[in-house]
Amino acid sequence: MNERLLEFFDQHADQFLSGEEISRELNISRTAVWKHIQNLRRLGYEFEAVPRKGYRLIYRPEPLRVDNLLEELSTTLIGKSIHVFESVDSTQNKALQLVQQGCEEGTIVLAEEQTSGRGRMGKSWFSPKGKGIWMSIVLKPQIPLKQTAQLTLLTAVALCRTLNEMLDLEVGIKWPNDLLIEGKKISGILLESSGEDDRLNYVIAGIGISANLSKEDFPEELSNIATSLRLESGQMIDRTLLIRRFLEQLEKLYFLYLQQGFSPIRTLWEALTVTLHRRIKIHTRDGWMEGTALSIDDAGALTVQTDNGEQVKLYSGDIQL
Ligand code: BTN
Repeated sequence: MNERLLEFFDQHADQFLSGEEISRELNISRTAVWKHIQNLRRLGYEFEAVPRKGYRLIYRPEPLRVDNLLEELSTTLIGKSIHVFESVDSTQNKALQLVQQGCEEGTIVLAEEQTSGRGRMGKSWFSPKGKGIWMSIVLKPQIPLKQTAQLTLLTAVALCRTLNEMLDLEVGIKWPNDLLIEGKKISGILLESSGEDDRLNYVIAGIGISANLSKEDFPEELSNIATSLRLESGQMIDRTLLIRRFLEQLEKLYFLYLQQGFSPIRTLWEALTVTLHRRIKIHTRDGWMEGTALSIDDAGALTVQTDNGEQVKLYSGDIQL
């Protein structure tokens, strides 16, 4: 039925179709028409609904084009094996299963939708169908465990540079790894890793990018703190192209990191961050603390000069600007 309904809209591109016209054409009730429209909305389609005029199809999700991605991708390691799913609980879980089956470094998992996407610090990650980039990348660098956080900063730098190059937007990094446009979050990064004897075995870098979400897509609790590339740039984002550019940028920085260590990545991070030399609020176990963000160290920790005169190091956590 979805196919027939979409075909009918195609035959009347950019026009309003009334519930009555649709119900006659498809031989279904008006209630069924409404139900099918709702169903398509859940699949990422957007309709303008105007009383007495009907519905107009205004957005069709472009599926991720993995063939195109593989053909054009110029990397030698990252993205050599790509797994795309329609719907998963979390791409992090799928990537972990692949790691357990011995997948190669650089393996990528992408999904059109996550039903239990997860964020940092036990939060969930909103991942509606066809609208964003929900991706996990398997890396296996030979580094000490305590340097794992460096990879989070590296991933944030790669994504921030990609977005700034592709779109006419000012994207900044909020420590440790949120990407913001004018104070609103457009992307988050979650690193999950495992190691033994102080060596890292693997890391799964989970990247969520709110690419083509509309204002209506965001649940109320996110509407003031999150935004999408589409809303900020006023244009539809070609997700496949963005993924390709990001993987190429990530590989370039990853190889630089393996050859020269964290120092060049740290310099790039410092140039892109919106956190340093600013007043920040820190959420601690004992409540909120205020101070000035001074620097990051080699472990990716943030040094803060607090208002009560001490310097503290933050290794993880949530800050407010
Ligand atoms: C955060 O800012 O809290 C991190 C969000 C990370 C979300 C991504 S989406 C792809 C991958 N799969 C998940 O379940 N989470 C990460």
